[in-house]
Amino acid sequence: MNSPSGQSQLSFEPMYDRHVSFIGTMERRNYEFSWSDSIFRDCVKSGYICQLVILNNEIIGYGVMQIGADEAHILNLCIDEPWQKRGHARVLLEHLIQEATQRRANIVFLEVRPSNPRAVDLYQMSGFNEIGLRKGYYDSRNGREDALVMARNLVR
Ligand SMILES: CC(C)(COP(=O)(O)OP(=O)(O)OC[C@H]1O[C@@H](n2cnc3c(N)ncnc32)[C@H](O)[C@@H]1OP(=O)(O)O)[C@@H](O)C(=O)NCCC(=O)NCCS
Repeated sequence: MNSPSGQSQLSFEPMYDRHVSFIGTMERRNYEFSWSDSIFRDCVKSGYICQLVILNNEIIGYGVMQIGADEAHILNLCIDEPWQKRGHARVLLEHLIQEATQRRANIVFLEVRPSNPRAVDLYQMSGFNEIGLRKGYYDSRNGREDALVMARNLVR
């Protein structure tokens, strides 16, 4: 959300092991098919970019991104339900893109469920294009669900 001066009120801090059980609880509240705490722990341990979204000293979301060579891959992006629809995910996404740019990535990839139109809209509005489909990538209630693969080129 923007303040009257136009400055984002959000800030970002690194996620550490000590945050994982809190983040895992948030994850399970917001995803039907959620990551386990151990996946978050592995991401922290592996040195992935794991960022907490802070609003008024409160953690309201998180993002996880892997960078290898000149490619970034957004693996998880979440704003806790009470704080959604206020533009915070858009700010988080731009923050991750800035981090990727600083680390000299040329492109950012992500996967998203076609059944998650809010996320698909968010990514399209943020300059991601659909570049492919991964068949049966996700668990779903009716067996498997495909993933849309989306990418945004980072212009320098
Ligand atoms: C998807 C998610 C990250 C969006 O977070 P958010 O903070 O509500 O998103 P924002 O308020 O920044 O919205 C950005 C854009 O998303 C889209 N969007 C947001 N809410 C929407 C809605 N109810 N219906 C359709 N599009 C919507 C719009 O394009 C919106 O832009 P606009 O506000 O200019 O119209 C959030 O709902 C979430 O964390 N969901 C659970 C986890 C998840 O699905 N993560 C994505 C996995 S790929």
